[in-house]
Amino acid sequence: MRNFIGLTERPSLDNIAVTQGPVPVPGPGEVLVRVRATSLNYHDYLVVAGFIPQPAGRIPMSDGAGEIAALDPGVKGWRVGDRVMGAFFPDWVDGPPTDANNAAISGETVDGFAADHVVVPAHSLSAMPAGWSFAEAATLPCAGLTAWRALRVEGRLEAGATVLLPGSGGLSVFMLQIAKAIGIRTVMISSSDDKLARLKELGADHGINYRSLPDWAPAVRELTGGRGVDLALDIGGQSTFAHSVAACRMGGHLLVVGSTSNGAPELPLRDVVMRHIRIGGMAVGSVAHLADLVRFVEAHAIRPVIDRDFPLAELGAAFRHQLSGAHMGKITVSL
Ligand SMILES: NC(=O)c1ccc[n+]([C@@H]2O[C@H](COP(=O)([O-])OP(=O)(O)OC[C@H]3O[C@@H](n4cnc5c(N)ncnc54)[C@H](OP(=O)(O)O)[C@@H]3O)[C@@H](O)[C@H]2O)c1
Repeated sequence: MRNFIGLTERPSLDNIAVTQGPVPVPGPGEVLVRVRATSLNYHDYLVVAGFIPQPAGRIPMSDGAGEIAALDPGVKGWRVGDRVMGAFFPDWVDGPPTDANNAAISGETVDGFAADHVVVPAHSLSAMPAGWSFAEAATLPCAGLTAWRALRVEGRLEAGATVLLPGSGGLSVFMLQIAKAIGIRTVMISSSDDKLARLKELGADHGINYRSLPDWAPAVRELTGGRGVDLALDIGGQSTFAHSVAACRMGGHLLVVGSTSNGAPELPLRDVVMRHIRIGGMAVGSVAHLADLVRFVEAHAIRPVIDRDFPLAELGAAFRHQLSGAHMGKITVSL
């Protein structure tokens, strides 16, 4: 039997429960993974709290790391016992995003990793970084990969560039660690002076408290010699979008990856047009991008910042901890 969380017809943080069912059997091209850890992402919260509606029974959580327990005889390149990570987009193996390769989303349109055994396509798997725990590896497929792709693939930033990173959550802390390893200068904004102090210990060059300084873009420009940042990441939506645009340099790049606030942002049209700001959206990345990231974290000895680990039965409490904003870095769940 396996233990897993299947969402109810009307999911909420109050009705997440572990149930039992038969261990699935891998079909052609598939692998059975004994999942050891998953990690929380805001996208998972939107699923488990019912904001992204799913059919009853859907197994949530896009991130997963574990060991291969069995595999279809036709699968090449993997063996029982290999330590692997799943993928946010299990069918996006390589190349640009397409409608077809982005259709399957772990924990949303297909079952995810809130289960101690899952069957996944072999092509979705990546080898864990050497020496990493399962909890550490479970932080890479969504937040780590998004950070990597934003800085390196979409942002194409090199040493000496400057980036604006919002908050101290899983995504921003990964971006800080990768940016430092590349030599990119970072300006971070957070609601907490304590967190800003910890971000500086991790290598942030500058920190601004967006609560005590709600109009923070002029301070970002001042900290960058009046120029503005090369790349700003936007996760605050309505509450940050215009500020993020204003924080960019002439011809700078704004990458929108989500929204932690309600409501659509207004477009500061004149600022965007007259300062030639490039605005783009992006979601996570491919299995090939994840392989590049694994090589990078191994070469630079980067280890994820894990705030707290919960058991699977306390997934609801784990999301409440995330929503409280008390965390810094990633929250993981061990199975
Ligand atoms: N598109 C993608 O590929 C992708 C992938 C991963 C994540 N995301 C998105 O990125 C966002 C963050 O994800 P996460 O997993 O890092 O979440 P998280 O761990 O919950 O972190 C969220 C953090 O955002 C900060 N924040 C909230 N409101 C803010 C605001 N108005 N201005 C600046 N910072 C603010 C807070 O930091 P402080 O406590 O320091 O204030 C909070 O701790 C979410 O919207 C998520 O959907 C997108």
